[in-house]
Amino acid sequence: MSIESKYVALKEYIPMGNPSLSHFDLKSETISLKNNDEVLVANKWISVDPYMRARMTERKNYKPPFEIGKPMEGTAIGEIIESKSNNFKKGDFVLSEFGWRDNFIANSDSLKKINPINVPIQTYLGPLGFTGHTAYIGLFRIAKIKQNQTILVSSAAGSVGSTVCQIAKILGCKVIASTGSDEKVEWLKKEIGVDHAFNYKKIDNLVLHFKDICPEGFDIYFDNVGGDFLEAAIFRMKNFGRIVICGRISQMNATSPGEGLKNMAHVLVKRLTIKGFLIFDHYDDYKDFENDMSNWVINKKIKWRETIVEGIENSPQAFLDLLNGKNIGKMIVKI
Ligand SMILES: NC(=O)c1ccc[n+]([C@@H]2O[C@H](COP(=O)([O-])OP(=O)(O)OC[C@H]3O[C@@H](n4cnc5c(N)ncnc54)[C@H](OP(=O)(O)O)[C@@H]3O)[C@@H](O)[C@H]2O)c1
Repeated sequence: MSIESKYVALKEYIPMGNPSLSHFDLKSETISLKNNDEVLVANKWISVDPYMRARMTERKNYKPPFEIGKPMEGTAIGEIIESKSNNFKKGDFVLSEFGWRDNFIANSDSLKKINPINVPIQTYLGPLGFTGHTAYIGLFRIAKIKQNQTILVSSAAGSVGSTVCQIAKILGCKVIASTGSDEKVEWLKKEIGVDHAFNYKKIDNLVLHFKDICPEGFDIYFDNVGGDFLEAAIFRMKNFGRIVICGRISQMNATSPGEGLKNMAHVLVKRLTIKGFLIFDHYDDYKDFENDMSNWVINKKIKWRETIVEGIENSPQAFLDLLNGKNIGKMIVKI
């Protein structure tokens, strides 16, 4: 079968500043299966993620820059519509790194079969997928979270953040959640069950605010944003506190490198641990996450929410909306 493949390509690198729709192109080509072991996949759900912003520059990073004019990559869930492989049959659902396109051809060894528990398949891009895995590894392996600790979470209404908040609540921790809109604050309080949530855009002095809402300080700060927020959190960490550097979204479109942390004395005096991690280094550490998260999801101990944008042609807009905080929970594109 020959079929049209529509895909999104980057037109030029964006070294700094905000990306816009004019940086992306929608292209198409005709594709058909040729070789043994190939499969034809129709993507159903595409993930757009903050780390993709770094791949839109030529700077060295842990993943190479996107190739100009070529289909952009990213995690996606698709259905096999034709197969020349013994490993997959028509109707199988697969996870791939071939996002930002609708139909594509791949060798079977580049795909992972999904055997879904009784949840919508796109949950494998959220709590049961790589953002859930990130929350789990960040908390258990990097923060070494213990029961009844006090934890501060930034970008708390996002995909990683909302999962972090809920795992911490399962462990009996006190959760302080920061997010960028009043609607998200309400969701975090009423649905996610955090102890305190606030809209960071309305706070003039974060350090004083932390002192007001959590005078005892934080055992853990799960940092999704970096920048001034990280500096403010360091001021309010307890002795021997642990800071997990998961992301730095506040810096991603920055037009200058910024000033850097001015309060390293607190790191020394309080004997803090600040540790970054990338989930790609933890792919082999999956079993505990898979068992725990499946149980939590089945038993409704973890809730999730999606912000859905429809159509491959709208995936650049979904990405821009993600960077602008328009998502609650996981931002995904439905094809
Ligand atoms: N280390 C890893 O392996 C790994 C893996 C996955 C994700 N991450 C990181 O984890 C973080 C969360 O990822 P996610 O996929 O769950 O995204 P997300 O939190 O669902 O979405 C991004 C959110 O970032 C917030 N944001 C945007 N600009 C901001 C700014 N200037 N200051 C503060 N917040 C801002 C927005 O929420 P507000 O309304 O709250 O501003 C937006 O909704 C990101 O930093 C990402 O890079 C790391």
